[in-house]
Amino acid sequence: MAAEEPGTRLIQVAEHPRLLKLKEMFISKFGSIPEFYVRAPGRVNLIGEHIDYCGYAVLPMAVEQDILIAVEPVKSQTLHLTNTNPKYLDFSTSVNDIHIDKTNPQWHNYFLCGLKGIQEHFNLKNPTGMNCLLDGIIPPSSGLSSSSALVCCAGLVTLRANKLSLSKVELAEICTKSERYIGTEGGGMDQSISFLGEEGKAKLIEFNPLRATDVQLPSETSFVIANSCVEMNKAATSHFNTRVMECRLAAKFLAKYKGLEWNKALCLEEVQVTLGLSLEEMLLLVEEVFHSEPYSPEEVCSYLEISLEKLKTTILCKNTQDVLVFKLYQRAKHVFSEAARVLQFQKICEEAPANAIQLLGDLMNQSHRSCRSLYECSCPELDRLVDVCRQFGAQGSRLTGAGWGGCAVSLVPTDKLPDLLANVQEAYYQSNKGTLAVEKRCLFATKPGGGALVFLEAQTM
Ligand code: GLA
Repeated sequence: MAAEEPGTRLIQVAEHPRLLKLKEMFISKFGSIPEFYVRAPGRVNLIGEHIDYCGYAVLPMAVEQDILIAVEPVKSQTLHLTNTNPKYLDFSTSVNDIHIDKTNPQWHNYFLCGLKGIQEHFNLKNPTGMNCLLDGIIPPSSGLSSSSALVCCAGLVTLRANKLSLSKVELAEICTKSERYIGTEGGGMDQSISFLGEEGKAKLIEFNPLRATDVQLPSETSFVIANSCVEMNKAATSHFNTRVMECRLAAKFLAKYKGLEWNKALCLEEVQVTLGLSLEEMLLLVEEVFHSEPYSPEEVCSYLEISLEKLKTTILCKNTQDVLVFKLYQRAKHVFSEAARVLQFQKICEEAPANAIQLLGDLMNQSHRSCRSLYECSCPELDRLVDVCRQFGAQGSRLTGAGWGGCAVSLVPTDKLPDLLANVQEAYYQSNKGTLAVEKRCLFATKPGGGALVFLEAQTM
């Protein structure tokens, strides 16, 4: 599996209405025919929130919603980017001079991340220019990973346009790193599932080294995605990076307490592995090392025996240098307990006991509680939505993705699906009509979808 490249599929564009429309728009925009098309899907994370950047395994599945780009390599070394949605303005740049705006990133900056990642990986001196038309159907800022899908799509577009090849795993790793050009310190879950997703299969994604294992979900169950309609753009605030830094600091505290080389210790999983302890033992250690009151930067410095200057310049990333409160106890407790829930979820899927749905649902509910109370990455609307979903038949329901808004994912016995959809529609969306943006409302059952692909039009071969 490790060396497998993203698939290439020959298709009759005329038989696929979305591709056909994209092709026609491309012709009217650029006056030429696309040479190829690339798709990269969004994802829904079933369990394992905010632990990928701590080195722990997560359990997402790709969704059908994706980013689709029609591409024509051109000789001019200019990138022309345009979007089927007129809300997203056209953008052009020289491919030799890429600037990524971190302060107020627009849609095209995510494309540039993928482009730059591939250029740098191959040290491309003479990258090809491209005309690209993009069509995205993943609701943005909703926790379904539209931004990473765009980075991954752009990475694969650039790879193909420059006639290069890489495995899915290599692409996922490059796109994970290159998305950080936007300023967020994300883990690798979104990019990995976007490349490694397979139809009908959820995946346990493990890191260092990156690998994906199939997870067979119980039959007679459905996963429902519901948008809270609260927008969360993780690049626009420092919430996300603050959590990453809190986990980084917690790792350093634990390492120092245990006499390890704490300067090097970057993630909680590394500390656990070095100590040779179980997750349960790490939870006990958390109780021993941390107090539950928040830590000030001064207290952090005094524990680590470093100056404030050193904390800011060598440990904290840019948009977190002025953070005044670090909740190390709560964040570390969430991470170790969530990491354990992922493994339990996988085990239940494997062993398939008679009460599997109930057990999986319980784990999802515990995960939401931990995200809400310990990790503080929920919001009142998401909490209400999760409650409504449970009230109308979900065995488990939790926020998915970064949180602070966006979607909830619910595990629903298939026989309860129609009722749940109708009731949640009524209880969450209809009764909050005045306050929820109409265009953001979405509520649908989903199945595991396939990963990123290149499409070639059959007669152009
Ligand atoms: C975002 C990041 C991921 C992951 C999730 C939270 O989607 O991109 O790497 O950290 O948040 O689980």
